[in-house]
Amino acid sequence: LGRFIHFEESVDSTQKIAHKLAYDGMKEGTIVVAEEQISGRGRLDRKWHSPKYTGIWMSVLLRPNLPPPKAPQLTLIAAVAIVQAIEEVTRLQPNIKWPNDILLNGKKIVGILTEMQAEADKINSVIIGIGINVNQQLEHFPEELQTIASSLLIESGKTYTRAKLIQVILAKLEKLYDQYLQHGFLPIKLLWESYALSIGKQIVARTITGSIKGVAKGITDDGVLMLEDKDGKTHYIHSADIEMEK
Ligand code: BTN
Repeated sequence: LGRFIHFEESVDSTQKIAHKLAYDGMKEGTIVVAEEQISGRGRLDRKWHSPKYTGIWMSVLLRPNLPPPKAPQLTLIAAVAIVQAIEEVTRLQPNIKWPNDILLNGKKIVGILTEMQAEADKINSVIIGIGINVNQQLEHFPEELQTIASSLLIESGKTYTRAKLIQVILAKLEKLYDQYLQHGFLPIKLLWESYALSIGKQIVARTITGSIKGVAKGITDDGVLMLEDKDGKTHYIHSADIEMEK
């Protein structure tokens, strides 16, 4: 991965550029990195705040020979790769919050947005968008994010070389992706669950149809969260915001 890197100073969104490169036939492993995004996108149509020179804003193009329902597994692979890379480079120990947030001390430092294009039941391209808050000071964040978001700098008091982090992330991602294509999802799922914060804990899942309380039991092979309510019934959560009960 990353043998072809498309670098830009300022873009609207690296996802948009990666989609265009995918459409133009660029190979698997192509990376788009930008110093700044004017309209960075998050999950659920949210904005992703991406100020200049402080974070990692990148999109990775993959073309796995897999059916579309497997695409969410790639998000989980990316989350594991990013946690491992942050651990190696910073010696900090981040956790994963389902579905794909990475937190340090309970605050979000990484977001992952996976988008897929498929034709005739085969994935054509998967774009994994990765946003990492690296060297932001607290005052770089909009006020409404200051209590819920953070950066590696804020949590450790140290600045980090973004190029080094990118290099380690891509190396870990390549290794896990190859392992996944050869041996399937189970080893990755176990790693993912070992980093996940909510497994075995009481949580509230806020979905568009309402809130469900219960204990997070784990994830299915499709990355769906299994939640057991107090009556012992298992709920399968595809999309929600998760709150951990204190
Ligand atoms: C989220 O947690 O909501 C996902 C955030 C994903 C942000 C990254 S930054 C690089 C790529 N380009 C975008 O516009 N979004 C993703």
